Amino acid sequence: MTEKTRQMKILCIGAGYVGGPTMAVIASQCPDIKVTVVDINPERIARWNSERLPIYEPGLDEVVRSARGRNLFFSTDIEAGIRESDMIFVSVNTPTKMFGTGAGMAADLQYWEKTARQIRECSNTPKIIVEKSTLPVKTAQAMKRIFDAGNHKTRFTVLSNPEFLAEGTAVNDLKHPDRVLIGSDTSPAGIRARESLVDIYARWVDRDRILTTNIWSSELSKLVANAFLAQRISSVNAISALCEKTDADIAEVTRAVGMDSRLGSKFLNASVGFGGSCFKKDILNLVYLCRYYGLNEVADYWEGVIRINEYQKERFVVNMLGNMFHTLSGKRICLLGFAFKAHTGDTRESPGIYIAKRLMEERAKLVVTDPEALENARFELQGVEGDVCYTEDPYAATDGCDAVALMTEWPQYAALDFDRIFRSMAQPAFIFDGRNILDHAKLYTIGFNVFPIGKPALTHFHDEPSIGG
Ligand code: UDX
Ligand code: ADP
Repeated sequence: MTEKTRQMKILCIGAGYVGGPTMAVIASQCPDIKVTVVDINPERIARWNSERLPIYEPGLDEVVRSARGRNLFFSTDIEAGIRESDMIFVSVNTPTKMFGTGAGMAADLQYWEKTARQIRECSNTPKIIVEKSTLPVKTAQAMKRIFDAGNHKTRFTVLSNPEFLAEGTAVNDLKHPDRVLIGSDTSPAGIRARESLVDIYARWVDRDRILTTNIWSSELSKLVANAFLAQRISSVNAISALCEKTDADIAEVTRAVGMDSRLGSKFLNASVGFGGSCFKKDILNLVYLCRYYGLNEVADYWEGVIRINEYQKERFVVNMLGNMFHTLSGKRICLLGFAFKAHTGDTRESPGIYIAKRLMEERAKLVVTDPEALENARFELQGVEGDVCYTEDPYAATDGCDAVALMTEWPQYAALDFDRIFRSMAQPAFIFDGRNILDHAKLYTIGFNVFPIGKPALTHFHDEPSIGG
């Protein structure tokens, strides 16, 4: 431990899904470093200071409780935080820009730029600025220009340290990361700043897992890692459509493919589509960057990953419509799960949002259930025209329904009493398993008409389907 890190004060601007857990783990691993997390949203900060944290993340309560009030603090006083800190992590949101040049594609950097200006105005001592939010390549350079413009009071060194945590496993990912990536410039100040961040992570991460690169490689690696992960899911989902036409089974295909050690077996589950705040946004950033540099073929290639994801979601709705006699009007449909994946309450870009809107467009009556995401589900669907209600109890949610559409792979859903559910539903009863986690043969035996992803449907109708629509 160096003298420098022992006395260090860290500030994190942005108390969201990235900033909160990351700082909680740093504080728990480094009891001698004071870590303060600030946010412009006072309700969010109040929740971080309460017994009910603003995000659901397995294991996070314990980590926060172990450090909060000791060396982990949550506050709305951004300026005081900036003044006293040596190192400032910036993890404010960087949504996709919805106006002007790059609308629907480029990152909206207004929050980042405001933060950079605020840091500049409030700083009297040298600061290391760490980019934590996912940002387009060359943001660090833009930020450095803002910091340097008109500031004669002090010096800023910008590092890129993208976060690779996945929601639902964030605490474990932070405690045992596959790698930590730190990008810096090669000036003596850049190298010194990089070393002090390496020293912090090295308290609990093997040094050979801490990679140092130039700043652009670091920024780009984050976009590329997410693009590769999303591409894998779109590849599987594209093949799931082919499986449904050919009576092949996507689970058998991915098992055979994943046993090739060059490919590996993780991240090969067919689904109703990927969601989450990162994949779509990061690919759009990548596409924008490629178009900016005139690499249109490369941009088209990556855009295909998003196109397949949109197609997969629409295919799911069309499949429901076609199999439920071409009308959903007035039918009661339960969305079993609404979070974009299990073990989180986050609904950003959740496929459930698109499916819910489309089903309401078809005038279905929706019942949404989820163990952690109902508050966010209400927020996502507010103002959408249609009939929708919410309940936490899956049995109440499915009661009287014509169909169940499983959106999120919560393990408790696989353990539900489907005999009971079947008896409470309208007949014929349909199940559309958007995550392939249910026991399809058993559901069929109970009496359900079962529609998995990328596997043969199991139905009790033995005549030819009607052609309608
Ligand atoms: C992702 C990256 O994994 C993480 O490294 C990065 O820091 C942020 O973005 P996250 O969005 O939290 O993390 O979740 P992830 O587990 O990657 O899942 C993303 C989406 O893909 C979810 O909707 C998930 O259900 C879906 N998915 C994942 C599949 O459909 N099939 C799979 O096999 C895996
Ligand atoms: P992520 O998933 O990247 O962590 P979130 O939306 O969960 O994104 O969190 C980003 C946080 O940043 C939000 O709590 C938001 O209120 C906060 N934020 C945005 N702009 C500022 C700002 N200028 N100063 C402080 N906090 C900000």
